[in-house]
Amino acid sequence: MEVIIRPDADSAAMLVARLVAARVRAKPDLVLGLATGRTMERVYDLLAAMELDFSGCRSFNLDEYIGVPAEDEHSYCHYMNKHLFGRINIKRSNTHVPDGMAPDLGAEAARYERLIREAEGIDLQLLGIGEDGHIGFNEPLSALMSRTRAKALTATTRQQNAAMFGGDADRVPARALTMGVGTILEARELLLLATGMAKAASLAKAVEGPITAMVSASALQLHPRCKVVLDRNAASALTQRDYYDWVFNNEPEWEGYRE
Ligand code: GLP
Repeated sequence: MEVIIRPDADSAAMLVARLVAARVRAKPDLVLGLATGRTMERVYDLLAAMELDFSGCRSFNLDEYIGVPAEDEHSYCHYMNKHLFGRINIKRSNTHVPDGMAPDLGAEAARYERLIREAEGIDLQLLGIGEDGHIGFNEPLSALMSRTRAKALTATTRQQNAAMFGGDADRVPARALTMGVGTILEARELLLLATGMAKAASLAKAVEGPITAMVSASALQLHPRCKVVLDRNAASALTQRDYYDWVFNNEPEWEGYRE
């Protein structure tokens, strides 16, 4: 794992956007794993402004609320169309979001896993982190080998996402379909972005704490190619910040990304 700490949320999002852009340029048929949430909005704004060629790319989103139709403004499908797909030249037929309205959620989860396999796996998976340490919607106690399935959301998550539902946590759906931790770990590269003080505690557990199903993001420690990009606030509870900065300032891989 590499931890990159940028001075503010904007420069953290910029670094993530530049990394995604580099991967798309290097592999025009890149298979992208995508995340939702407020943190990613800035990344998608930046990507849209870069006028990259996504026409050969395919994408798989991490998760979707159960019982929210795709057209509903609260669905992650709607979020993706609004923040990214409607602004870049990706073919809609190449974009995938789990169907939270599927009558048989188990069958939908299996179909989603099959689609990812048929695409020969995800090249680059974008991730955010929940205040309870989730990735996707893998809430505490999600098996570290779990696959796409339905999960009940925690009170913390419903509170965290209440702002998108008029501030009312009770209106946040109780369940979601989400890629499993095992599904996420199979992506060839992982890129997590977290900004703001509200993420500092869960982020520190994920990066410097023990690997535990209680903090699903801690499973990222198992992945051989995982980058965690933070602003100063999200990094504030980490104990080894000087070392992470030293690595960023000295590894040749980061030349051109430091300014
Ligand atoms: C939701 C998503 C997560 C995402 C999180 C972060 O819970 N299921 O995948 O990481 O939001 O949200 P935000 O960026 O709004 O803090």
